[in-house]
Amino acid sequence: MTFSRRDFVKTSVMGAVAAGMDGAQPATAEAGHLEHASQSETPKRSVIICAHNGHAYVEAAYAFLKNGGDTLDAGIQVVKGPEDDPNDDSVGLGGLPNEEGVVELDACCMHGPTRRAGSVGAVRNIINVSMVSKAVFEHTGHVMLVGEGAERFAVAVGFPRVNLLTERSRKIWLLWKEYNSDRDWWGPGMADPHWHPPAPDSKPQAELWQEKIQQLCQRAGELGIEPEFQLAAVRRVIFPPTGTIHCSVLNEKGEMSGITTTSGLAFKLPGRCGDSPIIGAGCYTDQDVGSAGATGAGEENIKVAGAHTIVENMRRGLSPQEAGMDALKRIVRNYNGDMTKLHYMDMTYYILRKDGAYASVCLWEGYAAGHPHRFVVHDGTLREEVATPLLKGFSQEWPPFPTIPEELKKNSVYVK
Ligand code: GLY
Repeated sequence: MTFSRRDFVKTSVMGAVAAGMDGAQPATAEAGHLEHASQSETPKRSVIICAHNGHAYVEAAYAFLKNGGDTLDAGIQVVKGPEDDPNDDSVGLGGLPNEEGVVELDACCMHGPTRRAGSVGAVRNIINVSMVSKAVFEHTGHVMLVGEGAERFAVAVGFPRVNLLTERSRKIWLLWKEYNSDRDWWGPGMADPHWHPPAPDSKPQAELWQEKIQQLCQRAGELGIEPEFQLAAVRRVIFPPTGTIHCSVLNEKGEMSGITTTSGLAFKLPGRCGDSPIIGAGCYTDQDVGSAGATGAGEENIKVAGAHTIVENMRRGLSPQEAGMDALKRIVRNYNGDMTKLHYMDMTYYILRKDGAYASVCLWEGYAAGHPHRFVVHDGTLREEVATPLLKGFSQEWPPFPTIPEELKKNSVYVK
């Protein structure tokens, strides 16, 4: 964000001249300059960029990086925090489960210095799938392992089997199950004193939703969800989240790595993999150019190969922000700009260029007014910044959802 495209091209060309172009012939003059320049250019600073849920872990990872720590290991330090945290229900332990109530995790990583990549999808019973994705390239000749095979591989290389489903996530899943149970036997039956018939259709939709949300909050309490989390739990039921954390890392030597880990779309079909374990969608790193990763609607990101598209855009000379906006526009194009459909999805990209320039861009401003998409960056100073949206408005504008009071949010960063 602090470097313009022109600056990047200029410094790249200067770097290319200094490097003597290594005798190779570029396919085109501009592409050649960028490729060779970026290979020889060393950034002046280390930079870490990640999703907002990595905030608490970035300072330690940055110190590790400054002490000569590997870029991928620094990224893993960041994403392992939310993976280990049972209260972060978007990643690792305590992640929201699939439709059968089973937590399935996805992750992938790319190690720039050795140009290796690893990935795991739909893994059960293992917390740190970020580390398992690294173990795939360390211990096998493969890049991607999924399902039961990935779990057995993780155990074979020393990861413990753990029950990933926390009580809170199980109760939210149960609430979701009941909410979707107009046609099966889940939820209280007619013999239950709290049973009530479906609301009459004559009422305005907004009023019906208000009643529905109140009923769901009450049911959340009956299921034992703590009062300060009930509204947040209902939000997760009505708008199943995709969660996820991505982290891209650059050191002063110009080495780069990227890593993404998630429990994926809440209440998904068993075996569903989103973008997070897909190299080129959830994460892509080419340390000659840059690194990018994604959080948000996995299916949409796979279709535009988001992270790869962004890195290739930067290779062509686009700034990190321009590169990310182009990927978002491809998502909009896939729906012919239909705003009704686009309101059902969101996407945030985290982008880091080899020279230390960075950006985060998002499809919508946030999920609701007052909740802009934020990301974390550390380039010597740790801070949060607001991501730049492509579209004005919010992804969860319908049905109308009550604002969660500030005093409830104080109790937990995950009440949102
Ligand atoms: N972006 C995470 C997922 O869709 O699974």
